Amino acid sequence: MPFIDRDFINDLPNRVDIVGLINKRVPLKKAGKDYKACCPFHEEKTPSFTVVPTKQIYHCFGCGESGGIIDFIMKFDHLAFVEAIETVAGESGVSVVYDQTAKPVDSRFKRFNKLMSEVSDFYQSQLKNSAAKKKVVDYAKKRGISGSIAKRFELGFAPPGWTNLYDDFKRSDENVHDLEVMGLLVAKKDKESDYYDRFRDRLMFPIHNTKGNVIGFGGRVLSDKDNPKYLNSPETPLFSKSKELYGLYHCRKYSRRIDYILVVEGYMDVIALHQQGITSVVATLGTATTPAHLQVLSRSAETIVFCFDGDKAGRDAAWKALKTSLPAITAGLLIKFLILPNGEDPDTLIKRESVKSFSKRINDAQTLSSFLFDHIKAKVPFNTIEGKTLFLEKTAELINLVTYPTYRQQLVEGVAQEVGQKIDQVEKALAQNPPNERQVSEENLSWSDQSFQKKIIPSSVSSMKSLMSRMISCVINYPSIVNETESSSVIEERARRLPNSDVLVELIRYSQVETDLSKDALLMPYKSKPRIFSRLEELSVLEPFLSEYEAKEEFSYTLTAAEKFHERKSTKASISEAKTYEEQKVVMENIMKGKSNSNSSKKT
Ligand code: GTP
Ligand code: MN
Repeated sequence: MPFIDRDFINDLPNRVDIVGLINKRVPLKKAGKDYKACCPFHEEKTPSFTVVPTKQIYHCFGCGESGGIIDFIMKFDHLAFVEAIETVAGESGVSVVYDQTAKPVDSRFKRFNKLMSEVSDFYQSQLKNSAAKKKVVDYAKKRGISGSIAKRFELGFAPPGWTNLYDDFKRSDENVHDLEVMGLLVAKKDKESDYYDRFRDRLMFPIHNTKGNVIGFGGRVLSDKDNPKYLNSPETPLFSKSKELYGLYHCRKYSRRIDYILVVEGYMDVIALHQQGITSVVATLGTATTPAHLQVLSRSAETIVFCFDGDKAGRDAAWKALKTSLPAITAGLLIKFLILPNGEDPDTLIKRESVKSFSKRINDAQTLSSFLFDHIKAKVPFNTIEGKTLFLEKTAELINLVTYPTYRQQLVEGVAQEVGQKIDQVEKALAQNPPNERQVSEENLSWSDQSFQKKIIPSSVSSMKSLMSRMISCVINYPSIVNETESSSVIEERARRLPNSDVLVELIRYSQVETDLSKDALLMPYKSKPRIFSRLEELSVLEPFLSEYEAKEEFSYTLTAAEKFHERKSTKASISEAKTYEEQKVVMENIMKGKSNSNSSKKT
């Protein structure tokens, strides 16, 4: 305690995620605002161990154990106070502030670093001395890995068998305990002091931090029959996949100048490129690019080139990287994309073509903006006015993720140029597409496609008919949703303007006349029209089930969507009549005007 800054200790629990930290050790289930699990500190069958994130504490109603995150880690990980602080800080990406007047406390990390280096030595020696070394040497040869590159990356071999590493290190209990914390030994279930090696029969890639310490390992199978193809160290106090980049240490060590950093997907890509003299290269560790990665990268080089395979998975990953990059762009940082031919990765491509032509690919990588524009263009019918409008809306959502003003301005200008609009028109579109939390935080591509579908809806998937059905379902189930507000006459009027809306309008009107109508009563007038009646009966099942509040939201959302859809349809006529570029521009400006009008009228 005397060595770590006191304010830091007091403040630490407020800076970390107690649920995440405990959940890593004891899987938690959400229960209202809190989380529950079977207590790790006493035997029980029904969960009475509770984590209360709002108070940053845990408590067991069974055995009375309770405290904050530091207490938990001390007890669960069997650590001293200082070690618990360092563990909590380490796993949360917070750097410990040491008391400047005292010597730093780093005994445990020193121990881990030393041990990891010994393990790396062990794997390297197995490459030379193991009885089974022939298969790994053959494999390395097959992959074209030279001896000197294997040495540079300290490649090793985890021999076949369950306890090679364990047997070599078990002479000390502390070693065994630490190796378990490092994820290299795994305790056998139900047997406390019996362990097996995590990595077996694999080509080993030590992962270094920027100081050159080994903090984890990746291991590749030698035969395509085995799986998983790659196995990585788990998250440990030294190692976090979402922060580390494979090869960054080597990039800094072996590049004379770092003009750019190429970010590739695999260990083997990094190694193959080094072997050809391309050393400014790192790989993510089987994860998507995270904001933490970008922070490290932007500190290392001014140009970052993301390199991905040309297949669907590669393009999706590139798009994810783009979205992660947008908020991270700052002055002087240039982000580019290099999409390789389908079926190639840097490892295969550098072997197939000359270094010169691969370097040319890096040089010619697409700028972020051009990649962004192309990607969205490919998703809309860009040569039509609707397509350009969609393009504008879609890019607006993304541009709104950019916080660096100069870059944002450049993108706006780029968009304006692409769609042939004035800059202030684009700004208007931006104002109408504020970013929402979901878009920023959600990882995968599908949000864009979903919200794309949901918000715009001109596709054949959702026709006016299905929108109409949706609204009718809502009204039949909750007549009050069109009845409650003073704007009910406005709703009726809006519905009336839609094509083939007679039944909807009638239902709205009935609902307004009679309060608290039952479903049956509402449908009564249609008894004499069997076809409509049976359709309405079908629609009276609200699928999925919605609460009244949700139905109200759904109704108003669908109504707006239907209006947009209709509006697009009716402008289609004028669009197809617009022959020249100038005429198209006028039509498009009208569409944009119409939008901002309808937006402002909604607010009042
Ligand atoms: P090679 O077949 O050795 O050339 O691998 P690659 O580098 O071409 O790998 P691939 O494109 O399949 O995967 C790229 C990266 O994703 C790898 O370097 C690993 O970091 C990670 N990865 C691939 N397969 C697995 C797996 O099965 N499990 C885990 N955890 N990561 C994997
Ligand atoms: Mn590969």
